[in-house]
Amino acid sequence: MNAKERIEELRALLNFHNYLYYVENAPKISDYDYDIMLRELSDLEAAHPEYASPNSPTNRVGSDITATFTQVRHRFPMLSLSNTYSLEEIADFDSRIRKEAGGDFEYVCELKFDGTAISLTYENGELVRAVTRGDGTAGDDVTANVRTIRSVPLKLLGNDYPAFFEIRGEIFMPHASFRKLNREREEIGEVPFANPRNAAAGTLKQQNSAVVAQRGLDSFLYDIQGENLPYASHYENLQKAKSWGFKVSPDMRKCRTLEEISAYIAYWDKARETLPYDTDGVVIKVNEYNVRRQLGSTAKAPRWAVAYKFKAEQALTRLLSVDFQVGRTGAVTPVANLTPVQLAGTTVKRASLHNAEQIALLDVRVGDMVYVEKGGEIIPKITGTDISQRPTDSTPFVFTDHCPECGTPLVKPEGEARHYCPNQLHCPPQILGRIIHFISRRAMNIDGLGEETVELLYEKGLIGNIADLYDLKREQLSVLPRLGEKSADNIVTSIENSRKVPFGRVLYALGIRFVGETTAKNLASHFRTLDNLLKASREELTEAEEVGGKIADSIVRYFADPENAAIVDRLRAAGIRFEIEEKEAQANTLAGLSFVISGTFENHSRDELKELIEEHGGKNLSTVSSNTTYLLAGAKAGGAKLTKAKKLGIRIISEADFMAMIGTAAPSVTLQTGSAATPAENGENTAQGSLF
Ligand code: IVH
Repeated sequence: MNAKERIEELRALLNFHNYLYYVENAPKISDYDYDIMLRELSDLEAAHPEYASPNSPTNRVGSDITATFTQVRHRFPMLSLSNTYSLEEIADFDSRIRKEAGGDFEYVCELKFDGTAISLTYENGELVRAVTRGDGTAGDDVTANVRTIRSVPLKLLGNDYPAFFEIRGEIFMPHASFRKLNREREEIGEVPFANPRNAAAGTLKQQNSAVVAQRGLDSFLYDIQGENLPYASHYENLQKAKSWGFKVSPDMRKCRTLEEISAYIAYWDKARETLPYDTDGVVIKVNEYNVRRQLGSTAKAPRWAVAYKFKAEQALTRLLSVDFQVGRTGAVTPVANLTPVQLAGTTVKRASLHNAEQIALLDVRVGDMVYVEKGGEIIPKITGTDISQRPTDSTPFVFTDHCPECGTPLVKPEGEARHYCPNQLHCPPQILGRIIHFISRRAMNIDGLGEETVELLYEKGLIGNIADLYDLKREQLSVLPRLGEKSADNIVTSIENSRKVPFGRVLYALGIRFVGETTAKNLASHFRTLDNLLKASREELTEAEEVGGKIADSIVRYFADPENAAIVDRLRAAGIRFEIEEKEAQANTLAGLSFVISGTFENHSRDELKELIEEHGGKNLSTVSSNTTYLLAGAKAGGAKLTKAKKLGIRIISEADFMAMIGTAAPSVTLQTGSAATPAENGENTAQGSLF
């Protein structure tokens, strides 16, 4: 087989397995085998640029091209739906349709996905364009970004699709991706997204598709338009579209009567709580195209469809007082104390008020009866106030102008919604927050220390910044309350071990605002030493991957501060790594992956394997949980661990597989057939986690 044929074969195989994984949720090969094929394809494409294709599965990782979006006119306008909030309105809709359309037709009930609408155009089975709704007539061309969404097929399966068609649907962010993204944003001082819908829309408009690729967007397609569609009805065409590789909701149902529609609505009004993504209602559509044509559309919405919007689960309760919390970055968050109230199965006593602007906008006042809702987030938020119940002596809410922790006057930077305490170096929660971030697992991983011990050490005056950790003596620790000889030893050892933490993680650990894990790694591999980084101008900083002006400014600001500079000097004197190690340059192969090791191995001891995992940027865990990516199983691997891994759908790999993963041995898989000798392939495991 020549390179061209192999490239085509690999693309077809990868497209097919991608479909099984992301759309069918029934993978046939292990994630690892998928990776191996993808790597082979990417190597072949690099060697043969003449066979490059924008729709190759390798392009799913995104590119760095920054584009300003071009506007594209929709071939058919993207209409919206008329909304209803009651079953009476649905009954009106039903009788109107029956009157106009006569007897014989069906409805299709679907979930209304809460994301952002997209129109995808396919020509000869390939994705050629992805356009946002825009104003309904024209939208933004976001093709490069959409190509990174794994459940959107780049090349269709089978051969019975029309040569040209458009398919529309929703791009959304599942809860798991949303929580991860917001956690990361909070971690580096970025403002979190208010809900998954905003996060999906914001992500789709990112200039850098590599960022989009990391955000875990997903899709459901719910409307297909074109000349030569296989069927004359919606439901049937969508089922067919599923076989071409599109992700179509498994929860669409055909309904014939109003009773069936209300049963569907009643069911999902409750069951939506269990879905891993947000839905804000049900869409009821006429199935047959000829009936749709007969009914027509208004300028805004089709007459053959209607949306039933679920009522947001809401509670009304009294706002008793507001606390101001200060985070690691100095951001001040107002938190409401409420009269406890039941909401979606839990008792709510506190809720977020976001920021001063939001409070002013809602005109929320202490003493008011306020509405509380749960969004995609677990933390409830206040969404409004009932003015009719406002006490007569109420006064507008005044946001604090001083830090509640250190008394420093707050600042509100231009263009930001939040207030900040600028006393970074001496405000206790900021100091503690920075130390806690520094010792955290993904940063310096000083696991002998926990949050409480950090607080204790700070209270006792033993530490006031991250550099002080390296001056701690065993004797100072063992005499402290709640700590003994053993904990003191643990702390000292884990501080000692942190001197080996690679430069990229050290940069992340410093807690420079907007510098997350990826940015820190990119900076480390671009500049290689701290000295080079310190010498770099703002412009030179932006030459590193994914570093824009905002991040560059923040880095410059951090190192220009004399107190920070002194801390960095002390860390350097303490032997912290401020240079990239040669092996670190390629050591990120296992970044983001976590391993549990069980059993005995032919060529390595367990400790050696653990060390290899760390060296390649992976993590070792002792117990199998949903956070585990791989169970590295040797002979006599623990039965309980294997069972648990299988139950949770965690991938089980052998020593040989592992060595191949870090690039030091041939994999125990047969590439051409895609079959593998891993336990995963022997029917012992079903891969469910993310592919990479
Ligand atoms: S059908 C002409 N089906 O709701 C009708 N829309 O308010 C085309 N949406 O912009 C839309 N889930 O973004 C349809 N199952 C579903 C949907 C859905 C979510 C969104 C879509 C549209 C908006 C209309």
